[in-house]
Amino acid sequence: MIRLLILLAALLPGLVIAAEAKLPEDPRTLVEMPLLQQALMRQDMVEHLSALNNVLGFLAAGKLKEAAAIAEKELGVSSMGKHAAATGGQGPGRFMPEAMRGIGLGMHQAASEFAEVAKKGNKAAAYRALEPVTAACAACHSGFRIR
Ligand code: HEC
Repeated sequence: MIRLLILLAALLPGLVIAAEAKLPEDPRTLVEMPLLQQALMRQDMVEHLSALNNVLGFLAAGKLKEAAAIAEKELGVSSMGKHAAATGGQGPGRFMPEAMRGIGLGMHQAASEFAEVAKKGNKAAAYRALEPVTAACAACHSGFRIR
């Protein structure tokens, strides 16, 4: 029993220090939006990543038409405004600062542009046209957060 107490006494300071560990600094701009819009946005994001993965899979398999179709539907301009009904026209984009919304719009446009290029059937050109899409993902993530 005593040994156990000594052991606990020895461990305790370490536990306290762990609990007080400093979080790394987060330089991203915090964008506030209501919980519904936050949830919809994160749901979109998970779908974006999945769509991007599918696009890469189709590209690698040489199925450029399929890559184009999924990019347009899931990431392209066609995918915009899908939360209008659920939010009374107040989708996540309405809460984004100008710069963030610009990057988001740029991503949708780049995905549609990718789709146009991929449809033409040149694999190297399609890969080149995909980079501006992932560049938009990266740019927004390094600049903004919602929590
Ligand atoms: C206009 C800005 C913007 C663009 C463009 C963008 N994202 Fe995001 N993404 C965010 C923000 C903001 C978050 C939430 C970060 C947080 O939790 O604070 C996020 C979160 C995520 C998450 C985590 C979702 C979760 O489970 O919480 C994934 C995955 C993701 N994005 C993938 C992507 C991919 C892939 C692309 C490009 C095809 C992309 N995003 C484009 C802003 C963006």
